Amino acid sequence: MLKVLEHPLITHKLTQLRRRETCTKDFRHLLNEIAGLMAYEITADIPLREVTVQTPVGPCETNEVIHEIVLVPILRAGLGMVDGISRMVPTAKVGHIGLYRNEETLEPVTYYAKFPGNMPESIIMVLDPMLATGGSASAAISELKKQGATILKLVCIVAAPEGVKRMEEDHPDVEIIIAALDDGLNEKGYIVPGLGDAGDRLFGTK
Ligand code: PRP
Ligand code: URA
Repeated sequence: MLKVLEHPLITHKLTQLRRRETCTKDFRHLLNEIAGLMAYEITADIPLREVTVQTPVGPCETNEVIHEIVLVPILRAGLGMVDGISRMVPTAKVGHIGLYRNEETLEPVTYYAKFPGNMPESIIMVLDPMLATGGSASAAISELKKQGATILKLVCIVAAPEGVKRMEEDHPDVEIIIAALDDGLNEKGYIVPGLGDAGDRLFGTK
């Protein structure tokens, strides 16, 4: 269940995002722009129900979205995708899950979790620019499932094959949508060629 979105505008902006010279201000802007462009595709299959509305001219049989949409950024770097997607889906609610990778073990450590109500009925989009080993995304999704979430998608910008494999093993029911599938991981668990440390580049912390 892997979908790679290869729209020319996404590819172009991702090229700018990857550049070492791209400053924090531009990185933040580009990340949100890419997420916004992905919003169209990640919502392409959400179910609709039939409704009749009254236009100024008369009744119109049409459709509207059934489920609530909940965005769940994985802190910190996932925050950089929220504004871009919310611009397209302004009614989306936002939950948060805080995870960081222990730099030695590469295992995720959860430090925060807060979600809206009605998780079982909602379409949950888990946001993180980087899917490296897959440990963070897998842990976040396990936590969401514990909260009753059943309709889940993982939305990332850059993924390594190792992370995709881990997700497919741990959560075969979760669709993964990415903008690029890179070559692999280096010895420090960074995606190659990737774009470096997304959280640090987004917040200017290194
Ligand atoms: C980064 C990234 C992912 C995770 C990916 O976060 O944003 O959450 O690493 O790696 P994984 O697939 O191997 O788990 P990091 O742990 O650096 O935290 P930060 O966003 O707070 O910088
Ligand atoms: N986290 C990042 O921010 N970048 C990577 O390449 C891997 C994990």
